[in-house]
Amino acid sequence: MTKAIMPLARAALVVAAAWIVTVAGEARAGEVDWTALNGAFKDAEFVKDPAVCFGCHGDYQKKYEATPHARLFKAGKALPSGECETCHGPRSKHVANPSRELALTPVQQNAACLQCHQGSGRLYWKSSKHGSGDLGCTSCHKVMERVSDKALLAKEREDQLCYTCHTEVRGQMNKLSRHPVNEGKVSCSGCHNPHGSVTKAMLKGASLNETCFKCHQEKRGPHVWIHPPVLEDCANCHQAHGSNHRKLLTGKDSFLCMSCHTYGGHVNLPRYNRVSSLAGEGCVNCHMAVHGSNSPSGAKLTR
Ligand code: HEC
Ligand code: HEC
Ligand code: HEC
Ligand code: HEC
Ligand code: HEC
Ligand code: HEC
Ligand code: HEC
Ligand code: HEC
Ligand code: HEC
Ligand code: HEC
Repeated sequence: MTKAIMPLARAALVVAAAWIVTVAGEARAGEVDWTALNGAFKDAEFVKDPAVCFGCHGDYQKKYEATPHARLFKAGKALPSGECETCHGPRSKHVANPSRELALTPVQQNAACLQCHQGSGRLYWKSSKHGSGDLGCTSCHKVMERVSDKALLAKEREDQLCYTCHTEVRGQMNKLSRHPVNEGKVSCSGCHNPHGSVTKAMLKGASLNETCFKCHQEKRGPHVWIHPPVLEDCANCHQAHGSNHRKLLTGKDSFLCMSCHTYGGHVNLPRYNRVSSLAGEGCVNCHMAVHGSNSPSGAKLTR
């Protein structure tokens, strides 16, 4: 062995960064300043009686009552402003003289939701790409009726919801090798927090690698013999969504390896290249432990 690498010391640097811990329960930010959202709310009072609303909006009753909110609010989880008006604001004037003048835009509507959902998964909402744009909670959630088994989503399936705006990802998820999202085995929110996170691309983990380790724990190590690009970033070799190369690789087997291992040596010898033929699986036929090895003789990642 010639190289003075210290695999154990290196491996010790692999910090088991904690999975972003979400706070149990939801913080309440207090009630909304309705008049600031829409001047027409001025002087309006809370009616606090859904029965009054259903008098004219009876068509919503059955659907709404099947939602978790309706059940929770009946069980005493509503704010003092009542049920409907927690989200729709004080409506005494509306009841007396109904019109659409109290209507809110989706982005204005967010303030009502955040009264109860500011904390937990929404800690980074305001700085996220979704929260800093024109999206409302209602771009993804439907609260007046339950159309999805999951989290009041506006579409039955989560991926279909995301694809309505992210058409390019739909294409990626149809490639030869892909995370089985369309097959229903992984969801977009398995890797992303659609409400924002501290990590790039709203990833759920503290880093890209930590996100992957959530499901591919065995790749975390620590390994006695490490392969530096693995520790650095799984994306050095893998696409997260889909790829037309096998195993979600960013390039064709040996070409991928040789994009970094360009020097001479056995890589260029015919007897190795025969094994790592264009049709075969290339270098990993011998370098099987490409993610790192714990074998005493695994320095060259061959076992
Ligand atoms: C958790 C918040 C929330 C609660 C509680 C709630 N709503 Fe809604 N409601 C919304 C949102 C958001 C929309 C608009 C988005 C949509 O169409 O899905 C809406 C839409 C409506 C509409 C149709 C608005 C339109 O543009 O035509 C009516 C009517 C309505 N709600 C009445 C009620 C009544 C009556 C209650 C109480 C029984 C109630 N809502 C409870 C959030 C809520
Ligand atoms: C006397 C009948 C009546 C009563 C009572 C009533 N509404 Fe309405 N509401 C209407 C009419 C009419 C509209 C306008 C519908 C349209 O043009 O699409 C409307 C529109 C709405 C809208 C959509 C526009 C907006 O202002 O945001 C919401 C939400 C709504 N009502 C909620 C409520 C709630 C909550 C209550 C109970 C506090 C309530 N309504 C009580 C008749 C009524
Ligand atoms: C008065 C407080 C309150 C308001 C306002 C409120 N919610 Fe909720 N919501 C709750 C509670 C309580 C739960 C159940 C516990 C939880 O999941 O945090 C809940 C649950 C949810 C869930 C999960 C449902 C499920 O099936 O798992 C979603 C999604 C949601 N709310 C979205 C919204 C949106 C969008 C708005 C605004 C239109 C909103 N909420 C307004 C209190 C509120
Ligand atoms: C880009 C789409 C999108 C937007 C915008 C969005 N959500 Fe969600 N939300 C989701 C998805 C997807 C889930 C299910 C996630 C999961 O199962 O991990 C979810 C789950 C939830 C839940 C239940 C689970 C939890 O995290 O507590 C709540 C509550 C919730 N959302 C509230 C909100 C509120 C409030 C807003 C607006 C401030 C909002 N959402 C905006 C997509 C979205
Ligand atoms: C209503 C449209 C809409 C829906 C639905 C939607 N998104 Fe987005 N998403 C956006 C927009 C707009 C951006 C910002 C695009 C940009 O800045 O290039 C974005 C950005 C993103 C980003 C990149 C964030 C970053 O920091 O770079 C991710 C990841 C993402 N969305 C995931 C999702 C997931 C997962 C879902 C489904 C739960 C979803 N989106 C649903 C509109 C949407
Ligand atoms: C296995 C984990 C995983 C799954 C599942 C996943 N993503 Fe991603 N996604 C990532 C990673 C990692 C990145 C960041 C790639 C990078 O920047 O290196 C990303 C990036 C994105 C981006 C930003 C793209 C860009 O070019 O900046 C969007 C939008 C996105 N994902 C949407 C989705 C949607 C929609 C789904 C579900 C259909 C989904 N993702 C499923 C891991 C995942
Ligand atoms: C929410 C769980 C989950 C997360 C997070 C996740 N994966 Fe996966 N991954 C899976 C599942 C499920 C499969 C399919 C396994 C199977 O079919 O046996 C898979 C398969 C793979 C495959 C093999 C693909 C093939 O064609 O056989 C690779 C490579 C992979 N994941 C890399 C990653 C990377 C890189 C990340 C981080 C960006 C990641 N995974 C994050 C669940 C996940
Ligand atoms: C140096 C390139 C490289 C890096 C970096 C890399 N991988 Fe891989 N990965 C591969 C190759 C090559 C294969 C195919 C191995 C084979 O077929 O024997 C593979 C296969 C996989 C597989 C599917 C087969 C299996 O072994 O389970 C998963 C899952 C996977 N990688 C996850 C990850 C994760 C998670 C990371 C980041 C911690 C990562 N990879 C980083 C090259 C890499
Ligand atoms: C992103 C760049 C990159 C890619 C792609 C890459 N490697 Fe590496 N590899 C490295 C680095 C950096 C080292 C550490 C070199 C060192 O310590 O001198 C290394 C080390 C190795 C070693 C051990 C070398 C030694 O001297 O101990 C082997 C074997 C190896 N890589 C095989 C592969 C194979 C097989 C692939 C393709 C699946 C691959 N590598 C893809 C960057 C890469
Ligand atoms: C037939 C099996 C085999 C194949 C195929 C193979 N290698 Fe190796 N490789 C080895 C063995 C065995 C060693 C250890 C040699 C030693 O210790 O002298 C090694 C060593 C290495 C090293 C360490 C530096 C060196 O030259 O000793 C690198 C880097 C490497 N291989 C990269 C690759 C790449 C990239 C490919 C694909 C183009 C590849 N190998 C294909 C068996 C193979």
